[in-house]
Amino acid sequence: MRRNLVLGNWKQNTTKESAVELLDAIKLELEKAPISTDIGVIPPALFIEMATEEQYSPHFSVGIQNISKTQKGAFTGEIGADMAASASVKYALVGHSERRAYFNESNQDLAQKIERCIENNIVAVFCVGEELKDRKSGNYLEVVKQQVNAVLAEVKHLDIEKLVIAYEPVWAIGTGETATAEQAQEVHAMIRSLVNSKLGFNDISILYGGSCKPSNAKELFIQPDIDGGLIGGAALNAQDFVAIANSF
Ligand code: PGA
Repeated sequence: MRRNLVLGNWKQNTTKESAVELLDAIKLELEKAPISTDIGVIPPALFIEMATEEQYSPHFSVGIQNISKTQKGAFTGEIGADMAASASVKYALVGHSERRAYFNESNQDLAQKIERCIENNIVAVFCVGEELKDRKSGNYLEVVKQQVNAVLAEVKHLDIEKLVIAYEPVWAIGTGETATAEQAQEVHAMIRSLVNSKLGFNDISILYGGSCKPSNAKELFIQPDIDGGLIGGAALNAQDFVAIANSF
């Protein structure tokens, strides 16, 4: 179902102490102004339990930054979707551009990860987005289309309730350079119509990610095909993060 959602991806940041501080600060912000949008944090896996221990708000949930493509077994270092589900994880990022670029995750890997999520009742947040060269060459819509098609066509038993798409132009991630509302809307509209025509899913949630902050969240979230945000840097500041979630 299509719904507004803001997720904070902490990436490889925080220690046990600073994770506690950040969660406490988010809690304080949520107490000040109760929120009606779905909001979630995606801490490093070691700190997930801290985030699930407490009920911050009825709309609060917790995600994981990466999930194994395999089921249980001899895969040292991996975290399975069944483990994540048993630890009250609701969302899993799949195909973040940093995982694609630095860990060579292939489309086939991503399709398997989405399958593991669906089997274990976890919502896969499937990330797509073009690089700067594709934006400059004007080829960006085709690139994103191929990313969506290449993965979703491979997933067996696709379930709209277990899938969110995040459009994150690589040139906007961590750079301070946000896509304009028009640039983001154009790609979101294309993704929505593509997913609808291929899978018959019209009301999928599509998040924007890439230097989203309190100052630009409103103009992005007001766009007809943008349902919220996947937030990196600004999610490490509780006030900014909750302000973004209050930008609908
Ligand atoms: P950013 O990261 O908000 O720091 O640009 C977004 C992301 O990587 O999901």
